[in-house]
Amino acid sequence: MASTRRPIIAGNWKMFKTTGEAVAFTEALWQKVQPRANANLPEIVLCPPYTALSAVQESAAKLQAPFITAAQNMEGRDNGAYTGEISPLMLLDLGVRWVVIGHSERRQYYAETDETVTLKTLAALRHGLTPIICVGESLQERENGLTDRVIEQQVRAVLAQLSAAELPKVVFAYEPVWAIGTGKVCEAPEANRVCALIRHFISEYGNAEQTRILYGGSVKPDNTSALMSQSDIDGGLVGGASLEADSFFGIIEQACLVKA
Ligand code: 13P
Repeated sequence: MASTRRPIIAGNWKMFKTTGEAVAFTEALWQKVQPRANANLPEIVLCPPYTALSAVQESAAKLQAPFITAAQNMEGRDNGAYTGEISPLMLLDLGVRWVVIGHSERRQYYAETDETVTLKTLAALRHGLTPIICVGESLQERENGLTDRVIEQQVRAVLAQLSAAELPKVVFAYEPVWAIGTGKVCEAPEANRVCALIRHFISEYGNAEQTRILYGGSVKPDNTSALMSQSDIDGGLVGGASLEADSFFGIIEQACLVKA
């Protein structure tokens, strides 16, 4: 039976785009998506840097484009003396309703741990934000046969703190670190195996059938179809190819064809 989970195509812009560039992108993307707006569109999520969140949000509202804006990170606490941080309340204030949590670049360069990822996820849920929780193994972990163990640990750390009712409200993204920004995509059957493994772990805490699980790591228009045809991959978290409206739209288009 085909899944009833609505696909998600999310573009993580990382530390790219000024507000002007972000608005130009939003307009260019909408020009391409609009003619298909009544078709079976995936949820389209744009993750600009903090400084461009408002601009993208306002541009999408003005265009009446159903784009969801997501922050790339947030602090788990509501407020306090945490210089440079952005809280869930500040995101809500901008109308932002989704947030990426625990991206491997956050784990690698900013010392985020399973513990902080869990705290941030709980904070997101407490405030009604949809978290996209990123997990993934490094090249060395894969080569040492540790992939499943690493994924299990990262996923269970969060799941152990969630109620069964919260399981459909979170999104997981499997992003093998070695596939990020390398052009070396994880082969679709293997990406699906890991996504199915994540779903299996979720099922031990409640119903896993509604939780969306994305794949990320060198997703491009020409590998989207293979990835999205898989049973347990519900969409993509796209880095490099989300920076140009043409390539991001190419991915959306392929996702529409496969998951229609
Ligand atoms: P690339 O698509 O550039 O490999 O990046 C993936 C990613 O990190 C998305 O969060």
